[in-house]
Amino acid sequence: MGKVTIIDHPLIKHKISLLRDENTGTRDFRILVEEIAMLMGYEALRDLPTELVSVKTPITTADVPMLSGKKLAVVPILRAGLGMVNGILALVPSAKVGHIGLYRDEVTHEPHEYFCKLPENIDERLVILPDPMLATGGSAITAVDFIKQRGCTNIKFMCVIAAPEGLEALKKAHPDIDIYVGSLDEKLNENAYIVPGLGDAGDRIFGTK
Ligand code: URA
Repeated sequence: MGKVTIIDHPLIKHKISLLRDENTGTRDFRILVEEIAMLMGYEALRDLPTELVSVKTPITTADVPMLSGKKLAVVPILRAGLGMVNGILALVPSAKVGHIGLYRDEVTHEPHEYFCKLPENIDERLVILPDPMLATGGSAITAVDFIKQRGCTNIKFMCVIAAPEGLEALKKAHPDIDIYVGSLDEKLNENAYIVPGLGDAGDRIFGTK
């Protein structure tokens, strides 16, 4: 059974509040998303396995814990998920990176795949799936579907802001995955934007409209 973690940390709260401000420009927005992803990654990777390895210090030889070489993949949901990748890679620089391209139909809000390229042996990896906004849950559910279809069983989804509707839908569709949320907001509006949210994360990361 997966678990849902609403991360309760003043640094993350502060940085998310800065993201929400409509006066925060592209450069700062991008940096903040990366920083939040790193702080959330620190929490999400808390259970990475370690093993004892013998190391010779200047004083003696000791058996000390090191990451046990578990294979990782970061698979952002395009395009906004890209903004979180470097923050996670700062923690695990040798992780492989895949991409899942989904776009949201403006009218039906349904996700459609246009690109999917995943690292080799994805079925043996822990997959971190970042997307800043968990709105209806449609894209996240579809992305997890794709990854599971390729045999992957160890998935952690990470979002900066979630709407209760999206969180419920993702939990229901994929109760086995771990979900990390920076802030659980109030609701979705009639255009499937999160309230209070921060607007369109992709546009704000990339400076598009
Ligand atoms: N995607 C976004 O970027 N923002 C929202 O509020 C909802 C979906």
